Formats: sequence, structure tokens, C-alpha cells
Amino acid sequence: MAAATPGKVTFVGAGPGAADLLTFRAARAIAEADVVIWAASLVQAEVLDHAHEGAEILDSAAMSLEDVVAVYERARAEGLKVARIHSGDPALWGGTQEQLDRCDALGIETEVVPGVSSFSAVAAIARRELTIPEVAQSVVLTRLGGGKTPMPPGEEVREFARHGTTMAVFLSAARSGQLVRELLEGGYPTSTPVVVAYQATWPEELVVRCTVETLEETVKEHKLWKHTLFLVGPALGAHGTRSHLYHPGHFHGYRKADPEARKALRARGAST
Ligand SMILES: C[S@@+](CC[C@H](N)C(=O)[O-])C[C@H]1O[C@@H](n2cnc3c(N)ncnc32)[C@H](O)[C@@H]1O
Repeated sequence: MAAATPGKVTFVGAGPGAADLLTFRAARAIAEADVVIWAASLVQAEVLDHAHEGAEILDSAAMSLEDVVAVYERARAEGLKVARIHSGDPALWGGTQEQLDRCDALGIETEVVPGVSSFSAVAAIARRELTIPEVAQSVVLTRLGGGKTPMPPGEEVREFARHGTTMAVFLSAARSGQLVRELLEGGYPTSTPVVVAYQATWPEELVVRCTVETLEETVKEHKLWKHTLFLVGPALGAHGTRSHLYHPGHFHGYRKADPEARKALRARGAST
């Protein structure tokens, strides 16, 4: 017999760890869930305060993909709502696509709730903008290849480093020597600023500034090998530039340009 209500799996981005970095939508999805699957090592336990009293709570650390899919199958058969909690934003290194594909094959409804990624959280803690006019206008989100996850050709850190822009490097603290080598081979000067963040937004949080030259020794000094993110690039040390958008010489649908400021902006070669 078909379940009275259709089942649903919601993939919830829980942010970098701190429970108050959950979105309202994420909190609602957890509150409505009959089953919550979460990873205790990646998300703080307070996130579960949103779950209702009778909710079944499962730790994904002890579960294979097959175990998780079995829960989704049960949800479809019994009309249950599942909140599958992922750290940061589920779109990045979450293993979510394989689950979404299996949910499609099972015929169960899905929804994805975005979350605050760790790279955004670390930029906020360091009080840095990652895109600074005339310094860096792109952000590369990447990781070192190796071990279980080889990089597709052309996606090596060394290749992205050639752009010299801002880079957020995930999942790579255990190979800090290789990271430094690839950053240098790609052309970053040794003096390029780096922010190293361990367990950002957790009580154990450690955020240290260094340079490409001192990155490896910084990682080794603090014995970092997991839960660590690197922000690299000249934007992390740049000051003094300003965006055209807020320049008095720039006009748009909601603001007129000041004529003198506009002349000055044009003289600088800006297409306003
Ligand atoms: C499996 S990936 C998940 C990324 C996650 N989906 C996101 O958007 O942040 C795990 C990696 O993300 C980074 N990371 C996640 N949370 C972090 C945190 N609170 N502090 C520092 N790095 C973090 C680390 O590089 C870690 O090795």
C-alpha cells in the first residue's frame, strides 16, 4: 500500500560548523524531518536542537552510501521526510550528486538547501574580500589531487595558480609541501599572502596568516592535517583600491553620476 504522504529527502547545507550559521530554511527542513542524517565530526550538535523530539537521528560516519540509500528507500515507502545534513554548502565536495541520482532512481522527491561554505566563513573571519578591483576578480575553489581523488587533467593546483588570482584550497592540509610546490610552480611569488583556517567557527578554531613561503612550516607547527582551508592570493593583502560601482562618477538605474567625478573616472580609462 502506498504511503499516505509522499516521502522527501532534503539535502541541508549546515555551514562550516557553528549552529547559528544555519539558514532559516535549513532549520525548518531539520525541524520538519522524521529522520535526520548528520556527521557529528563536521557539524556542531546544537544543529540537532532544531529536530523534533521523536525524530530518528543517524550519524552518517557509520553509514555507507548503501545504508543511506536504504533510509531513502524506507522514506519513500513510508512517506517520511529525511533531512540529510552536509557541512558547508552541499554543492562542494559533499558526495551529494550520487545521492541525488539514487533518489531520482528511487522516485523520491528531493530538495537542496544551500549553506555557508567554509571559504565564505574563513573570508569573514579574516575580514577579507576575495575579489578586489584591479587585484583579483576571480576565486578558484579547488583541492590538491592525490590518493583516492586524482584531479582531472588541467585542474592541478599548479595550473590554477598560473592565473595568480584568489584561490580557496580545500582538503589539502595533509600535503602542505606539495601544495607549496604547486603554488610556486604556478607562479605565485613566495610573499603571496595566505590565510590558514582550522575548524573555522568551532570552539577549536585557529586562523593564522602566513605567506606561500611559510605555509608548510605554519601547517606543521600547528599539526594541521584535516578540517583546514587555505585562502591564497594577492587580494588577501591588498588595500587601497576602490570599486567603480560606488564611485560618484559611475551611474546606474538608481543613481546619477557626478559630472566632474565621471570625467575623472573616464580619464582613468574606465568604461562607465
Ligand atoms: C568534504 S569538504 C566539504 C566542504 C564543504 N561542503 C564546504 O562548503 O565548506 C571538507 C573540507 O572543507 C574545508 N572545511 C569545511 N569546514 C571547515 C571549517 N569549519 N574550517 C576549515 N575548513 C573547513 C576543509 O578543507 C575540509 O577538509
